[in-house]
Amino acid sequence: MKDDEIDKPQAMKIRQGIQDAITYTLPDKKFDPKNIEVVEVDIELDNIGWDFNNYKILNLCDIHLGQWVNPEYLDSLVDYVNTLNYDLITLTGDYVSYIIEGYDDALKDSFKKLKAPDGKFGVLGNHDHWMGSSIIRDIFKESDIVDLSNDVVILERGDEKVNLAGVDSCTVCADNLDKVLSKLENDISTILLAHEPDFAKESSQTGRIDLQISGHSHGGQFIIPGVETTPFRGPNSTKYPVGLYKVGEMTQYTSKGLGTNSFRIRINCKPEITIITLKTKNKQKIEIE
Ligand SMILES: [Fe+2]
Repeated sequence: MKDDEIDKPQAMKIRQGIQDAITYTLPDKKFDPKNIEVVEVDIELDNIGWDFNNYKILNLCDIHLGQWVNPEYLDSLVDYVNTLNYDLITLTGDYVSYIIEGYDDALKDSFKKLKAPDGKFGVLGNHDHWMGSSIIRDIFKESDIVDLSNDVVILERGDEKVNLAGVDSCTVCADNLDKVLSKLENDISTILLAHEPDFAKESSQTGRIDLQISGHSHGGQFIIPGVETTPFRGPNSTKYPVGLYKVGEMTQYTSKGLGTNSFRIRINCKPEITIITLKTKNKQKIEIE
């Protein structure tokens, strides 16, 4: 039996019905760029030179379509993303929450509309598995999004290469890091997409990953001013719940995501579009005569 054929418990069906009604009837859920934070982060990577210097990766995650975020909001969000400056799009999971029926076409249409010069690459989150991983994977396929669940692609620019890898959701034990490691090209930088940020404990220990990009935490939906961290940490986001971390030699970036969980409230924690700019550690030789 495929996981999307699992009969959902009655409690979840009731929750779906209530959430569906609220999401569709909310009066103030129009997209407004003022309510979104475009977070720009510069990250230095070993083993990249000038060809990948200033390469821009735009990451979206935790859309949770159908739980407060409605299709019209997502459509406008995509229009806005398409106006930004980036080379490639990554998607780090939880595109739906407790509803997929009636939202799958809207998700597909929005994902199809997303423009990315160097392509779109994604992994799944725990909610995507709970709602039906095969449905989400079909949506990826029809939207030209490369599914990087336990897989690797090689990005090339000029004479340089970078491993762009992804691991499936560890919350549902779908992760297979050994499979990812076996597919990595040696002696080049590796960027890993992993929905759950605390997967960094495991990925950093391999010594093969330079940067992990995650979501899942929603930044706890409350960030303590001045400290820029959150007291609200769920499973698999207790260690690295928001922003930039150094985990051993690896850099971890955790996005605050776009949607919200059961509580439709965010305090000092706006929904986030992340733009990561890769930077070379090589210093340019300036010859002065
Ligand atoms: Fe999640």
